[in-house]
Amino acid sequence: MRAAIILAAGQGTRMKSAMPKVMHRIAGRPMINHLIAACETVFDRIIVVAGPGMPELEKAVLPHASVVQAERLGTGHAARMAAPLLEGFTGDVAVLYGDNPLVSPATLARLVAARAEADLVLLAMRPADPAKYGRVVQDAAGAVERIVEWADANEAERAIGLCNAGVVCAAWPDLARWLGGLTNDNRQGEFYLTDVVEAARAEGRRNRAVEAPEAELRGINSRIELAAAEAEVQARLREAAMLGGATLTLPESVFLAWDTQLGRDVVVEPHVVFAPGVTVEEGVTIRGFSHLEQCVVRSGAIIGPYARLRPGTEVGEGAHVGNFVELKAATLGRGAKANHLTYLGDVTVGAGSNIGAGTITCNYDGVNKHRTVIGAGAFIGSDTALVAPVRVGDRALVAAGSVVTEDVPDDALAVARGRQVNKPGRGFKGR
Ligand code: UD1
Ligand code: MG
Repeated sequence: MRAAIILAAGQGTRMKSAMPKVMHRIAGRPMINHLIAACETVFDRIIVVAGPGMPELEKAVLPHASVVQAERLGTGHAARMAAPLLEGFTGDVAVLYGDNPLVSPATLARLVAARAEADLVLLAMRPADPAKYGRVVQDAAGAVERIVEWADANEAERAIGLCNAGVVCAAWPDLARWLGGLTNDNRQGEFYLTDVVEAARAEGRRNRAVEAPEAELRGINSRIELAAAEAEVQARLREAAMLGGATLTLPESVFLAWDTQLGRDVVVEPHVVFAPGVTVEEGVTIRGFSHLEQCVVRSGAIIGPYARLRPGTEVGEGAHVGNFVELKAATLGRGAKANHLTYLGDVTVGAGSNIGAGTITCNYDGVNKHRTVIGAGAFIGSDTALVAPVRVGDRALVAAGSVVTEDVPDDALAVARGRQVNKPGRGFKGR
């Protein structure tokens, strides 16, 4: 059994936010959930240390346990908060920082594997700009002597390129003992997790620093670093999408969510945004400037350019959704078409039906939402308003410009507009 303690009690002052830092989203998901997903591949138990008054964080990490660190007395103190939940636990425990969410499962696997050679393992990196990271001081043999926080470091120590990434791993009985002995005798008056290195050395225990790329171990302390993390995750997601058989013509302009599913031979043109919850089946083309969220696009469909697919939408096989078309809780049957300037909300459209330009479902009466049902093989003329609840039958034809307030039977023609009157000689006399 292995457990992970994730520290996330800090408010993240430098984010200048009303929201806890770890709740800020990367690829549409709170950063804490990225880290939890990576941890789930290696650890059997996960305990999150939250700050006081962070119910949204405690909810976001469910079904994993959380404990509250009432007072922010440092990373070492925060790790200790998990102790009551780990009573009697004898397996390995890793402590990770919630604001370092990009660590990969492969790196976590290397971390726990390195425990075979050392009693205490930590993750380190050599960032291009070591900035204010804690520095890893090694002895002549390469073992870690101690980690010195930037605030406490002297000139020579600040010149060290090897930085602490903030992940340690040891057997819980050892780690708990080392944590218990920490003091706050330092510049910041905090209990530093990093001081467990010296505690382990004092007992003559072996340690090891496992190095990993900066891209995985970068901490997020500001919105600028948040944007850098977003870029890193987007790059990974785009690469995975392309390796999975999707074409992204201009990858850097496509924004994917953490859970976007793109089938084989999907083509995504430039400037498409995927919010969470989107599944796109094989052979679909998504043309430029489209926005998709919580929807399914069945194989062979064509979406966009400039289409908006909102939650609860399902676009059937081979269906077409064209420019300036908004779909919300809409089910489009196989081969149906809505090609121009249309709002379809709370609607079911049967297979092969054609929705003319400018068609609007009037689904909201100001209080409630109502459904529109359009049968198969129907033809809705341009500029039709469908006042829900209403049903248009199979193969029905609705004349252009109609305001449909009553059901239209199968195979019927509905005309619901004022008749045209021509008045001879009454033309424009302005010039
Ligand atoms: C920490 C490390 C530093 C390392 C860097 C990597 C320590 C003392 N320093 O510094 O060596 O290079 O991370 O990013 O560990 N937290 C709590 N409770 C607390 C204090 C912090 O839960 O009382 C949490 C924060 O929410 C955050 C994480 O621990 O998720 C790290 O804390 P932070 O203040 O960001 O530490 P750094 O100064 O970045
Ligand atoms: Mg930090």
